Amino acid sequence: MPKVTFLPAGRTVEFEAGSLPFPDHGQPGSVLAIALHFGIEMEHVCGGNCSCTTCHVVIKEGLENTSPMLEDEGDLIDGVPGVTSTSRLGCQAVVKGDIVVEIPPV
Ligand code: FES
Repeated sequence: MPKVTFLPAGRTVEFEAGSLPFPDHGQPGSVLAIALHFGIEMEHVCGGNCSCTTCHVVIKEGLENTSPMLEDEGDLIDGVPGVTSTSRLGCQAVVKGDIVVEIPPV
């Protein structure tokens, strides 16, 4: 079961692939879907439709354990203040293994 550690809270959660609710909040198994499932606050103004960037996160460890960034996400994320080389949109980054993810202040 993949483990996701959310910073700055320092909370680690584990989930089983395919077991998450919120199928309409971003890609199934996304960082956003995991956060919502475990009651971790994450902004998601557009409802996970890859059109707002409020779900911006920084993958601190395990970027290789997330789905590849697609063109739509790449286009949007370039305009996010404070974007880093490991930034992702939480609603688009599907978790495939252990990661550590920071939710920056909005
Ligand atoms: S929730 Fe809007 S882009 Fe992710």
